Amino acid sequence: MADTYDFGLVGLGVMGRNFILNVADNGFTAFGNDLDEEKVGALIKEGGNTDKVNASSDVKTFVNALATPRKIMLLVPAGKVVDIVIENLSIYLDKGDIIIDGGNSFFTDTDRREAFLKAKGINFFGAGVSGGAKGARRGPSIMPGGSKEAYQHVKPIFEAVSAKYKGEPCVAYLGPKSAGNYVKMVHNGIEYGLMQLTSEIYDLLKKAGGLSNAELCKTYAQWNQGRLQSFLVEITSEIFEQKDDLGDGELVDKILDKAKQKGTGKWTSQNAMDLGIPVPTIDVAVSMREISALKDERIKADKLYDRPTPKAVDKADFISKAEQALYFAFIITYAQGMHQLADASKEYGYELELGEIAKIWRAGCIIRAALLADITEAYQADKELQNLLLSPSFVEKVQSTVDAARELVSYGSANGIPLPGLSNALTYFDAYTSSRLPLNLIQAQRDYFGSHTYERVDREGIFHTEWEDN
Ligand code: 6PG
Repeated sequence: MADTYDFGLVGLGVMGRNFILNVADNGFTAFGNDLDEEKVGALIKEGGNTDKVNASSDVKTFVNALATPRKIMLLVPAGKVVDIVIENLSIYLDKGDIIIDGGNSFFTDTDRREAFLKAKGINFFGAGVSGGAKGARRGPSIMPGGSKEAYQHVKPIFEAVSAKYKGEPCVAYLGPKSAGNYVKMVHNGIEYGLMQLTSEIYDLLKKAGGLSNAELCKTYAQWNQGRLQSFLVEITSEIFEQKDDLGDGELVDKILDKAKQKGTGKWTSQNAMDLGIPVPTIDVAVSMREISALKDERIKADKLYDRPTPKAVDKADFISKAEQALYFAFIITYAQGMHQLADASKEYGYELELGEIAKIWRAGCIIRAALLADITEAYQADKELQNLLLSPSFVEKVQSTVDAARELVSYGSANGIPLPGLSNALTYFDAYTSSRLPLNLIQAQRDYFGSHTYERVDREGIFHTEWEDN
């Protein structure tokens, strides 16, 4: 069956294999490629009972098996491997063919690769794919960016395989160039923020509320039935009931408290700094993974300093406050990420529609949450919305929960429980909603020691004062 397969996929690891089987489930024929013969064999075995799936370790055989314009997705580790695969494929491809990088590539790499392939007449897409292995198999959220015309060839396949929210596909053309990878990067930054917040609230409920794992499981499960409904809250509940196969009790208590990272959260934070957009909840989520890695130092330091014993709390009231605070901080984290997207869109010419992005995050991806339906509506109501906190539909949601966040942040600081995500979300809120901040003093200091000048509140112009003469 040469020249006839609808879709090609390079990289038959767990994600790739699941994605290709998903494509076949949706009625398309798909051909896989991997250097590893074992993976090729495993795919043929798994998908071979239909005549929809085939695979080869030979690049030329793979390319020749595909119908033109060829649509080839790469699900290989981000970095140098992507360049090598592109290089190898491009020898055999024709003008008009399409390569889609489905990994977490850094967005400037995507721009470079697009330019390289454009010179050969080949279309290149950076398409973030979220939802992990299960998502790839049952329906991920897909965030493609690249040529709008070329997207029309990929659209039917992506719409069929993606997750659905009330029947609507969780994929949309997002914009030119690296728009897709950029949006996925910020998705991951938000993911870092939400994960950090979820773990801080766990810490509070455990240390102050004295909740057992069974109670934590129940609490997060109940929250998942309400406005906090989300993938991360749902899996958190399930984590608390997982028994330890290798010993007594629940597994969560045996897991070392050092969180690893592959870099996407850090990139979000770094790029936000470059753009001049504040995303402190995401920044601190990255810092906390770094602090967590300093386990040996933390153990030494713990012995040197006393910390307060958490004061007793009214359990039911504390759980209710925790729910409100988590909801508040989730909103702030999405607000920061969306703000970054709005600014990046202008800076890089992505022409992003934030309502579309929120829409395709409602199902399939790691940050899917009931809140995203409200965020979608807010951006659909006002396409130019600068920040979610400025949306009239969010004022009451935030106003009614911020006091619980204040109470828990005070409790945490008085009782020695670190809440950097929650306190940063609160500080961000307090600063963003202050019409007057004390940064006038910073301007005065800058002008004092460096003649950096300042503006005034009562008249136009740029001013400088010879401070020391006074
Ligand atoms: C997703 C995830 C996925 C991956 C993260 C993990 O959307 O499916 O974000 O891409 O799990 O990259 O990132 P860290 O290893 O940095 O935590």
